[in-house]
Amino acid sequence: MSQPRGEFSSRFGFIMAAAGSAVGLGNIWGFPTQAASNGGAAFLLVYLVLAFCLAYPVLMAELIIGRHAHANAVQALRLISTGPVSRRLGVLTGLYGIIIASLILSFYAVVGGWMFGFCMEPLPRLVGADAIAGWLGGFSLSRNVVLAALFMLITIQIVSGGVQAGIERWSSRLMPILLLILVLLALYVQTLPGAAEGLKAYLVPDLSAALSPQLIISALGSAFFSLSLGVGTMLIYGSYVSEKENLPLLGGLVTAIDISIAVLAGFLVLPAMYAALHSGVEIFGEGGVLLAEDTLIFTVLPALFNTMGLMGVFVSLVFFLLMSIAALTSSISMLEVPVAYAIENHQLPRKRAAMIIGAVITTLSMIIIFNFEILFGFVVTLTTRYSQPLLGFMFCFFAGWIWQRDSILQELLKGAPEVKNTFFWRIWPSYVRFVCPLIIAFIFLQNIFG
Ligand code: PHE
Repeated sequence: MSQPRGEFSSRFGFIMAAAGSAVGLGNIWGFPTQAASNGGAAFLLVYLVLAFCLAYPVLMAELIIGRHAHANAVQALRLISTGPVSRRLGVLTGLYGIIIASLILSFYAVVGGWMFGFCMEPLPRLVGADAIAGWLGGFSLSRNVVLAALFMLITIQIVSGGVQAGIERWSSRLMPILLLILVLLALYVQTLPGAAEGLKAYLVPDLSAALSPQLIISALGSAFFSLSLGVGTMLIYGSYVSEKENLPLLGGLVTAIDISIAVLAGFLVLPAMYAALHSGVEIFGEGGVLLAEDTLIFTVLPALFNTMGLMGVFVSLVFFLLMSIAALTSSISMLEVPVAYAIENHQLPRKRAAMIIGAVITTLSMIIIFNFEILFGFVVTLTTRYSQPLLGFMFCFFAGWIWQRDSILQELLKGAPEVKNTFFWRIWPSYVRFVCPLIIAFIFLQNIFG
């Protein structure tokens, strides 16, 4: 039995959902630490250029294809194809995106579980239940299993609610809270001794670092991951946008919010690290390199919070609440990708689809947890470093070479005839046809052979 398709109820709802998908651990955790260890403001500069010149056009390709087809990636790419070969390629690309979205969710749930754990940890500590606090904040098999499962349960619950009552409602509630917490924390951190050093590390560009190929590759990877590109997330969200909306404008807003929040997170994390250094916490590893990735979030920052007494308990709770919210609004968008496919192509009711697929992905998370040393890094690299750019390339290929140009232009004009007078209108169709695929291919090949 076919079910009516969901649609975002308002422009605000869409922006919150899409920005919620984009703003995630990639922004608040990944971006600031990468900026810190890669030339500070220089990295920021490269990131900004790549985000606007490369990621935004790809985001637009996904949104436009999605809204035109009003369907998931598999159906949509099939619909815009013109012959049997491109149709088959479209289906394969769509399916590959669904698999990658599910795999990203499987490792994201593990990390999301850690964020939950660190968020809850101060409470038992406050009442003297140190064993429970230790379990929540320590690295154990049981903690990882229980909290990843909890993270998945909440994700499944929200996605089961549907586009408006689940995704839109929760994104619209959580995103403003996220922004408020981020601004308040960033302001507060500036008052700590040592914070100014961090601001300097963040804002003084080291241009020699900015132009290294390695840096450009990692900035591209970050920009793609950060805007949730390639896996069909933005395509499916685009498919829930009303025909009355001006898509280039909406996509531009989502990109701007995503970048602003990453930049803002830099104002929180970098000064916090140097404040930690000031209170005697080690923030440089071997060879004087800044500690990054898991050590930063799970060792350096908690150590800083620990030096702050009762205030630290509160700040820690709020900081990891911020991380948990960022993770959740992203994870729901990942789960929506396979769920929408199951609903539309296999006529499964939404709740059942969310439950079955959620259970499969939770199982994948468990497999990762039980083979953490071998699998975690492997899945992250496979999905974010290789698959996302490759899929981004495919979306440009479909938008630029397969889909008929007239049809794209018609889609762009829907709801916004004024788009015809914009720079976007003149440049985007050829840009996504020639420039984007070339640059992505170049960087991708560098990545493999360079
Ligand atoms: N954009 C999210 C982040 O920055 C990650 C994500 C990737 C979400 C792919 C959806 C799809 O953390």
